[in-house]
Amino acid sequence: MSKSLSKKSLPEKSSPKEVAAAASLDAAALPEEQAEFAEAVLAGLSAPRKAIPSRFLYDARGSELFEEITGLEEYYPTRTEIGLLERYAGEMAEAAGPAKTLVEFGSGSSRKTRLLIDALDGLETYVPLDIEESCLAQAKAALEADYVSLEILPQVADFTKPVKLPEAASGARLGFFSGSTIGNLDQREARRFLTNAGRSLGPGAGFLIGADLRKRPETLIRAYNDSRGVTAEFNLNLLARINRELGGDFDVSAFRHEAIYDGRFGRVEMHLISLEDQTVTLLGQRLRFREGETIHTENSHKYSLPEFRLLATDSGWRHEALWVDDDALFSLHLLRLPG
Ligand SMILES: C[S@@+](CC[C@H](N)C(=O)[O-])C[C@H]1O[C@@H](n2cnc3c(N)ncnc32)[C@H](O)[C@@H]1O
Repeated sequence: MSKSLSKKSLPEKSSPKEVAAAASLDAAALPEEQAEFAEAVLAGLSAPRKAIPSRFLYDARGSELFEEITGLEEYYPTRTEIGLLERYAGEMAEAAGPAKTLVEFGSGSSRKTRLLIDALDGLETYVPLDIEESCLAQAKAALEADYVSLEILPQVADFTKPVKLPEAASGARLGFFSGSTIGNLDQREARRFLTNAGRSLGPGAGFLIGADLRKRPETLIRAYNDSRGVTAEFNLNLLARINRELGGDFDVSAFRHEAIYDGRFGRVEMHLISLEDQTVTLLGQRLRFREGETIHTENSHKYSLPEFRLLATDSGWRHEALWVDDDALFSLHLLRLPG
């Protein structure tokens, strides 16, 4: 199947809505996931402030690069969250109560989940859920080798939408949302996510969520601007993915990665900055970039403990327990949906 959309022309000055609508006409011929990607990219790059939702950073190559990021010296979140799980997984499992099914949103490699699985007595089913298929297949194969009696039911799904869990994911449920992926959502999106997750998990469910904490901007910038340039490659891979999957002609070397901290929102923002005035052709559209113009590709919101508590309770969850490392870098929260 051709991966590029037909070159139906729009007026030179189409609004983002018109562009997205035209793409959606042509995109009808594409698989749903790719059509959504096409619409989001065209709408996002036609807007006055260019932006592409961060979930599109994760194709197979993006997932590989993210795994590499988790091992970087500057990237403290993964090792800190793993440290918390190594130290407190037993306590977390006890506080969570008996769980038959563990449902993980944005599970990636499921590497740190092993610590939780090991601590949960009586767990029968694990549902890793991710937008990116290849990481799910790899995680399933690796887990099956070590947990022979655990049923593993991977789900390719977008957690920004309501998710229907498989029938077999029955009994008491515990949700897990690690890696501070919740920080990629803004306040409104995070509330919607928590409400939808509550509907999927059901009354009485527990939910263990990792959230990165507010800290010195220098530490944050280092974490998202590593010296080996892996985060830059992760961010720039989005343009390469657009070229591969949507037939774009981005010159990836004509953009650079930048991470900034915006204290007003308490978030790190990743951007791709155009190094020159340039025009890119994509899906029959000519998209102009001025020198210095940016494409906003990811937010990583950092929480204070009261902010996170408020987010949880505002979204219908009870805040039951909290674990924080000694340097107050990262937090894990146990929430409960009233029964
Ligand atoms: C920051 S990584 C965290 C991975 C893993 N949980 C960890 O802590 O190492 C985010 C993960 O969420 C997935 N993801 C991002 N947006 C998603 C979405 N809208 N729906 C489902 N999965 C998503 C990515 O593919 C990736 O595996």
